[in-house]
Amino acid sequence: MAKEKGIKELEDLPGIGPTIAEKLKEAGYGDIEKIGVMSPHELSELTGMSVEAAKKAVEAAKQATTLVYSTGSEIYEQRKNIGKISTSSKDLDDMLGGGVEVKAITEAYGRFASGKTQLGFQLSVNAQLPVGKGGVDGAVLFVDTEGTFRPERIESLAKQAGLDPQKALDNILVVRAETTEKQILTVERADKVVREKNVKLIVIDSLMALFRSEFMGRGALGERQQKLNSHIHKLQSLADTYGLAIYVTNQVMDNPAILFGDPTTPVGGNIVAHAATTRLYMRKSKEEKRIVRLVDSPNMPEGEAVIKITPTGISD
Ligand SMILES: Nc1ncnc2c1ncn2[C@@H]1O[C@H](COP(=O)(O)OP(=O)(O)OP(=O)(O)O)[C@@H](O)[C@H]1O
Ligand SMILES: [Mg+2]
Repeated sequence: MAKEKGIKELEDLPGIGPTIAEKLKEAGYGDIEKIGVMSPHELSELTGMSVEAAKKAVEAAKQATTLVYSTGSEIYEQRKNIGKISTSSKDLDDMLGGGVEVKAITEAYGRFASGKTQLGFQLSVNAQLPVGKGGVDGAVLFVDTEGTFRPERIESLAKQAGLDPQKALDNILVVRAETTEKQILTVERADKVVREKNVKLIVIDSLMALFRSEFMGRGALGERQQKLNSHIHKLQSLADTYGLAIYVTNQVMDNPAILFGDPTTPVGGNIVAHAATTRLYMRKSKEEKRIVRLVDSPNMPEGEAVIKITPTGISD
């Protein structure tokens, strides 16, 4: 492996000059390891280099990747300080082990008016709070696919959280995505804005609505799944690379196959189910009350929390 010694930067890889390296960085492939797990075709498509040349670059990147072993206790230490965004409900935070975690995808699904978007607004405000005060001291990228972003709600929530409403609004970058293409592109190109604005939370409200309607009846299930897969993969990679939190909302459909219990299942099937680190199922209860059920979590037990949606935001 002697000849791979000294490969530290993208530019050290065969066939990769400064221009291509810049392109790769822009697209979120800023380190050798990421190139090492790309397919040559992917690299070729992204950079315009030939598949042959891409093969060599990927191979060299693979060789240059050193595996680092961490002990369980080291990971435990690191996780103690992992960023969490408060939901403004103590019960819900407790159920989540402190709040919505960075480096992970949190999904909330449920029927209309169950509070998915409201939780997205609350997180968009709270993410801006200082570390240790329920926030992660960052900006927010809000991808609105349904046209339901409401600055006046942010204003009320920000006031309640003790933030300057104007500043809070300035810290939320909203993209109105009307098509899956725009939704996908926004995430594909997010690296730059994430770095420049210190984005620590990305909200996709809703993850599936456009995919669902656009691909309905097109008979293009395979195509949809492939696009959705790479979309979610990119989200997870942003979360890992920049230590940010991803919050996505999802709709439900009635599943007639379920005879007993609650017949609602989230849209998106296995792809979304596997991709979401933490899944929350939200249900409307009496008046302003909502029941949030923790359906899936890598480290917290299943449970339920009751929250309220009030004019000033979420509370216990
Ligand atoms: N200013 C407000 N004061 C109090 N409650 C509010 C306020 N604005 C919205 N709500 C509550 O939030 C509910 C809507 O929740 P939300 O928009 O999060 O639903 P959703 O789960 O995103 O639904 P959908 O699937 O339609 O997008 C309203 O029914 C209302 O009860
Ligand atoms: Mg909504």
